[in-house]
Amino acid sequence: MADLDRLVEQIHQCQRCRLYKTATMAVPGEGPADADIMLIGEGPGFHEDQQGRPFVGAAGHLLDELLASINMTRKDVYITNVIKHRPPNNRDPMPDELGACRFWLDQQIERIKPKLIVTLGRFSMQLAFSGVSISRIHGTPKKIGDIVYFPMFHPAAALHQPRYRTLVEQDMLKIPQILADLIDIDPGGDDPAQPQQLSLL
Ligand code: URA
Repeated sequence: MADLDRLVEQIHQCQRCRLYKTATMAVPGEGPADADIMLIGEGPGFHEDQQGRPFVGAAGHLLDELLASINMTRKDVYITNVIKHRPPNNRDPMPDELGACRFWLDQQIERIKPKLIVTLGRFSMQLAFSGVSISRIHGTPKKIGDIVYFPMFHPAAALHQPRYRTLVEQDMLKIPQILADLIDIDPGGDDPAQPQQLSLL
């Protein structure tokens, strides 16, 4: 079994935090094992929890539209979340849950080796940007090590608040150029050499 498949199997068995007890099933993520782009959301919602697949509800439909706007489909990207089991009633993930689940995300990143990680929302943004507001830094790429991180608002925010919709659409349209320019993005100032632990821990 390929490395990534084995990892997915392990995530399905995960009991590293309390969330497996209330979830229907884990949502490890999906996409090509050699994807250049990885999209990282927050955690499974109702539909994802039922189907075991990421972004299959309303936010997922918007994500499909956003990908189509840059001539991509889900088959071109690896999609996952910082949390692999649905929190009860879609509450925010707790710091210890984020810490426990980081174990899996790090291994996914290590195996897939994406060139670009698009963070969707404030939780996955913490992988590369801490102590800053998403309103200030969305749409601004940052290179850490070999990976460019690109923070965007979560598609669900765009569904609930129309003013975010334009921002999400505009940020998505920047991605093709970022991919083209990848090697030209400076590893800015005092960035650490490796992504930091989530600042919420
Ligand atoms: N929201 C997320 O952050 N992830 C999903 O998989 C679905 C909705």
